[in-house]
Formats: sequence, C-alpha cells, structure tokens
Amino acid sequence: MTSDMPSDFWAGWIVVLTVVSFVGLGWMIFSIYFSGNVEKGDEVSPVWDGDLREGFRPAPMWWFWLILAAMVFSVLYLMLYPGLGSFQGALKWSQGGRLEQSESAYHSEFGGVRTLIAEGNLATLGKDPSLMQSAERVFARNCAACHGYDAAGQAAMFPNLVDEDWQWGGSPAQIEQSIVAGRNAVMVGWLQVLGGEEGVKRMADYVRVIGTDAANGHPSHGQYQMFCAACHGAQGNGNPILGAPNLADDIWLYGDSDAALYETLANGRQGQMPAYRSRLDDTQVKLLIAWLLKPDPAQ
Ligand code: HEC
Ligand code: HEC
Repeated sequence: MTSDMPSDFWAGWIVVLTVVSFVGLGWMIFSIYFSGNVEKGDEVSPVWDGDLREGFRPAPMWWFWLILAAMVFSVLYLMLYPGLGSFQGALKWSQGGRLEQSESAYHSEFGGVRTLIAEGNLATLGKDPSLMQSAERVFARNCAACHGYDAAGQAAMFPNLVDEDWQWGGSPAQIEQSIVAGRNAVMVGWLQVLGGEEGVKRMADYVRVIGTDAANGHPSHGQYQMFCAACHGAQGNGNPILGAPNLADDIWLYGDSDAALYETLANGRQGQMPAYRSRLDDTQVKLLIAWLLKPDPAQ
C-alpha cells in the first residue's frame, strides 16, 4: 500500500509539527506541576483594592495523571496507527486496508455463489433463505433510506416496491432498468392549462373517479382526454414507458388527499430514482430483483 500523502516533504513536516507540539505540551505540563512555583505562589500573587488577593491554588494532582495518561495513550496510538505523517503504524491499518477487508468479506460472501446467482432463475433465488438475507442487507445499505427497510415506501414520495403496482413496469428487465439506470419522472404543472385553482380542483375530483362510470359525464372529462390521456391513458391506466402512474387504481405515490392532489396537478411532480450502475454489480442487482419479486420480501 502506498502512502496517501502527496509528498514526503509534507509528511515529514507533519511529523515535525506533531512531535514539536507534543514535546512542547509535555514541557508545559511538567513545568506547571514541578517548577517550584507552586510553593512560591503566595509570594508573587498581587493584591488588589487593599485586601483582594488573587488566589493561587495549584491545579489538582489528578489532572496531571489524567493528562499523563492521555499523553501515553497518544504516543501508543501514534506507534500503532497511522497518524505521524506517512508512517503507517505498527498495525499497518489504513482506510484502504479496511476497504480491502470488506471487499474480501464481500467476495467470500458471494464469490462461491456468484455463478450460481448469475445462472439461477429468480424464483429459485427467491427461495434461498441465505441469499435472500444477503439481498436484504444490500437493500438495507443502499435503498432503505428512501424506500424503507421493508421496501414499502415512505413519505408519500418514495414508492412502495412490494405492492403489485409498478410505475415503471414490474418485469425483471424493467425493474433492473429502474435500479441500474435510475428513473426520472417528469410531469409539469397544469395550473394555467386547467384554468387556475378551480380547474385544478375539478380535475382532482375527476382523477378520483377515473375508470368508473362517473368519469364519462364529468366536467373535466374533455380536458383529461386532451391533456392527460397521452401519458396516463384514456382510462387512466398509466404508461410504464413514461413512468406515468395508473390513476384508476387505489394506489397513490403522492397521496390522494385534496392537498396532495392539488400540489401534484398544479405544480407537477419530478420523482427521481438514482442510478446504481456504478455502485452495485450484476450479482447484487440480480439478488435485489429476486428479493423484490419474491412473494413477500418483508418476511
Ligand atoms: C408527459 C406525460 C404526462 C402528462 C401529459 C400528464 N402526466 Fe400526470 N404524471 C406523469 C408522470 C411521469 C408522473 C409521475 C411523477 C413522479 O413519479 O414524480 C405523473 C403523476 C401524476 C399523478 C400522481 C399520481 C400518484 O400516484 O401520486 C397524477 C394524479 C397525475 N399525474 C395526473 C395527471 C393529470 C390529471 C394530467 C392532465 C392534466 C396529467 N397527469 C398529465 C406524466 C404525465
Ligand atoms: C434517494 C432516494 C432513493 C434511493 C436511495 C433509491 N431509490 Fe428507488 N426510487 C426513488 C424514487 C423517488 C422513485 C420514484 C421515481 C418516480 O417518481 O418515478 C424510485 C423508484 C424505484 C423503482 C421503480 C418503482 C416502480 O414502481 O416502477 C424501483 C424498482 C426502485 N426505485 C428500486 C430501488 C432500489 C433497488 C434501490 C437500492 C439499490 C433504490 N431504489 C434506491 C428513490 C430512491
């Protein structure tokens, strides 16, 4: 492992600074406790306002032991771990080393079963408890912050990944695309087009009944067919190619309260799923897909 330092000069400079300030600190502590000032203290303390004397009490001895212990610890630490310039320490610990360690832990976790995962079909992988545990860990590390540990989504912002409803499609290939390349959903705001607040509220009302008989005679029916059907479909069934959600079901990404629907329709929504191409390898992605498609991944 090569040194992380840009040049030996700076590494040397850091060593000098560290050692000089360490010795200086030691000298200061010793001189405070053992220079003899402690006894002479009373003679040199000035008197103010006739009878106000600035008292002089020696610092308690346990401070000294505490500081001494801290200094001994520092010396030991700098001998064992990197800290003194580019000196690596007796234990040869480094962040790079740590990374290598977790890399090799990763390879021993997946190394043997890599081909098995690459060739196995999703249903079989989904039935292997230990592989599914690994998948769950990968999910917890990379995805749970947004989608929740049980993948059930959260905050009316991050979609539920364990229901039957897939905004971008639920085939293995489509899910892989969502994970590897990410997704950028774009729906502009419709406030002007729908004729202001009243128009937006009417459309929100329409969206709630879309797919039912009530939709046909609804005052927003014409507007919907004109402005929205191209993406969401004439019956509101959505379009996975555009990531346009199904509006005819009871599943809402952003919610169907008056306020949530108003916000969605008036100002639009731009949900973004980050791309994991450079952060996960094929094995991990395939495990994640198997985990998401297995009957109840939360179990
Ligand atoms: C250009 C394609 C496009 C058009 C046109 C469009 N939408 Fe959307 N719509 C989307 C996309 C994509 C999303 C998902 C946004 C996201 O995930 O952030 C969306 C989301 C929504 C949502 C949120 C659904 C949920 O589950 O929370 C509603 C409601 C909605 N659209 C209604 C409409 C209505 C009503 C119109 C017409 C006024 C319309 N959309 C026009 C593409 C479109
Ligand atoms: C920074 C937050 C964030 C992280 C981290 C994240 N996602 Fe997402 N994901 C989203 C958002 C937001 C969407 C919805 C995008 C949209 O509005 O269309 C999404 C959508 C998806 C979809 C498409 C869902 C559908 O209904 O079609 C899948 C699949 C998915 N994520 C899987 C994952 C996996 C697996 C991981 C971990 C490797 C992950 N996500 C990590 C925010 C995140």
